Amino acid sequence: MRSGNLHYRAEEVGDALGLPGAGILAWLTDDQLHPPMLDDEEMWRDGDRWGPGAREYVSELALLAGVRPGTRVLDVGCGLCGPARLLVDRFEATVTAISNSGTHVATSRTLNDRSPRHRGSISVHYVDGPGTWPDRPVDVAWSLNMLYQVPDHREMYGRVSDLLVPAGRLLMDDWMATDLMTESDLRSFGHHFQYRNLARISRVESELVDAGFYPAVHVVDRGEVGRGPMRRHFEPVMTSHFLPRLLARWPDGDGAGVSGRRMVRDFLDAVNLTLDLYSSGKLTYRTVVAVKR
Ligand SMILES: C[S@@+](CC[C@H](N)C(=O)[O-])C[C@H]1O[C@@H](n2cnc3c(N)ncnc32)[C@H](O)[C@@H]1O
Repeated sequence: MRSGNLHYRAEEVGDALGLPGAGILAWLTDDQLHPPMLDDEEMWRDGDRWGPGAREYVSELALLAGVRPGTRVLDVGCGLCGPARLLVDRFEATVTAISNSGTHVATSRTLNDRSPRHRGSISVHYVDGPGTWPDRPVDVAWSLNMLYQVPDHREMYGRVSDLLVPAGRLLMDDWMATDLMTESDLRSFGHHFQYRNLARISRVESELVDAGFYPAVHVVDRGEVGRGPMRRHFEPVMTSHFLPRLLARWPDGDGAGVSGRRMVRDFLDAVNLTLDLYSSGKLTYRTVVAVKR
């Protein structure tokens, strides 16, 4: 998640914790740049548990995707390679990680280089369009919390399909819009999150089939997390747990142009919009797993 209404630079905010490019998420979920979409009231109630929750969530996804020792994974939109390192550590996978953010690629390499195991098992590539993707075949491809940034989903599914071995799996885990989502809702979403290319539930399946997949083998809807525990605890925990930490680093009125309070307010505005969209049935969060034909 990232606010498009930025009053700070994502590099600077993440850099304060040694995670350039992570923005405010470095403070919430460390090197995992996705929400911990677990239906777990106690986790949402405790800000110290959001980072571990985001890691736990990746493990749950890895099991759904069928990752096991030796599985070759393509991570599309790898962020800081937090999920990739976890796939190596907990599942003994090897990962080809790609991102269109130079900052994320650089931070990923720095973090991976800290351990010979990560350096040897994860290769990180900067991609910026046709001809820049790596071409080694993979058993599993996955994308976490990034589809909303991709302008042409069909094209991405096609590229992934080309790299997957027959019967290989694609797992996508993302915000997805229902047909109730209007243009005006999408504009609001884009205002806060910079991008507005949400996948549409009504199109995902046919687009995947067109790109060479069978219909999804798993669809897990997590909208209830956004209507339940996340809705109940997100704002209180941001205010009581994270705001004091950001204020200690970027106090009110220090004149540097960066304000912890402003950051938290912007982020709350953005996330509260999604919570309203979940509640009105316009938005949901889904894990979709499909098998290559
Ligand atoms: C919100 S972050 C999520 C990172 C990571 N999946 C995670 O969960 O920690 C989105 C990532 O997708 C990348 N991304 C967005 N559009 C992309 C594209 N078209 N091709 C490759 N990477 C892309 C961004 O640069 C960023 O690294």
